[in-house]
Amino acid sequence: MPGPQATDVLITEQQIQTRVAELALQIRRDFPDGVHMVAVLKGAFIFLSDLVRQMPGHVSLDFMAVSSYAKGTTTSGEVRLLKDLDTTLEGRDVLIVEDIVDTGLTLMYLQEILRARGPRTLRTACLLSKPSRRQVDVKVEYIGFTIEDRFVVGYGLDYAEQYRNLPYIGVISG
Ligand code: IMP
Ligand code: MG
Repeated sequence: MPGPQATDVLITEQQIQTRVAELALQIRRDFPDGVHMVAVLKGAFIFLSDLVRQMPGHVSLDFMAVSSYAKGTTTSGEVRLLKDLDTTLEGRDVLIVEDIVDTGLTLMYLQEILRARGPRTLRTACLLSKPSRRQVDVKVEYIGFTIEDRFVVGYGLDYAEQYRNLPYIGVISG
């Protein structure tokens, strides 16, 4: 099997690690009694694993999977729930952990359905944000990096299920 195409580094491993540590500190301060993290599969899995390892104290985890009916590199706007949570959110301090907010449609949908389950607090952390692409005004309290409108891969993010294993954020070159 031929390897994937080459990538140029947009955000280095070191830059990511530094920023994730800052976010973890900020989240810990805002959730002193502990936090229940809901990670969105698959893209958020590496961000989540680095984030929780920088965070002392009470942390519990759950996972959900959605499909944005993406075709290639664009989102259609429709969101389908592929895997639901294992436990209730009632009365809990919940943080959604997502890889990237692009149009905002996926997060808007997730926030709506999770808010309906009665958490005490519901906030969102995204490693990346592309504000120029936003179609809906979705609130994201913690953002790692704001980037331009380029399709990025690595550190959990894929193109056709490839590149998730890169330790940095890159763009596919040429
Ligand atoms: P949104 O609903 O348009 O905000 O898109 C959210 C989802 O699209 C993300 O969770 C990613 O799975 C995917 N996505 C958006 N932009 C990128 C990108 O640049 N690289 C990889 N996936 C992306
Ligand atoms: Mg995603």
